[in-house]
Amino acid sequence: SAPKILVFAGSWREGSLNTKLATLAARKLRAAGAEVRQISLGDYPLPLVDATGFGNAPQAAHDLRALIDAHDGLYIASPEYNAGYAPALKNALDWASTAKPGAPASGLAGKVVALGGASPGALGAYRGLTQLRTSLELGFGALLVPEMVAVGLADKAFDGDGELTDARSSGFLDAQVARLVKLAGKGV
Ligand code: FNR
Repeated sequence: SAPKILVFAGSWREGSLNTKLATLAARKLRAAGAEVRQISLGDYPLPLVDATGFGNAPQAAHDLRALIDAHDGLYIASPEYNAGYAPALKNALDWASTAKPGAPASGLAGKVVALGGASPGALGAYRGLTQLRTSLELGFGALLVPEMVAVGLADKAFDGDGELTDARSSGFLDAQVARLVKLAGKGV
């Protein structure tokens, strides 16, 4: 059966470049045969996480955790803030990890995750993605797709249909998406 992929961005502001990238990835994932659900983290408002969250997580954290549990893989697009990844994204993932007492702390063990980033700067949020990748691997036990798509000069990178105008970037996203579908479909 088709692998189930959950897609979200670390920003949900009006005009978010990372939401554009997540939306394009979702479209390409569907075309590659995945069953896709795209969410906005803005629909899961959460206070700043701390250890009182264990066994005491708000409903939004349980909802996020249940969504992650119900999918084989994730596509996450994160902005870069001062060379790190988006704190709202870290907060959501940390909450999801606390939301299920008795289960492994990780909400992502065995999930296959692909990362993208978009920035008006030249490096396309790549530095933030390296941090996100480390946290997901070491903290969450996720399995990371090798390719990371960093869309630089992203305020000019998308056309009116939400496609990447640069053929190389678009092709690289295709390859990443194909790998995510393939790996998530293996049930690793
Ligand atoms: C940024 N931005 C940014 N961009 C970048 O490429 N490297 C960086 O280190 C930073 N640092 C940074 C810090 C803070 C506090 C903010 C608010 C922004 C710019 C950022 O990439 C840009 O605003 C993106 O458009 C944000 O992503 P969304 O919301 O468009 O998805």
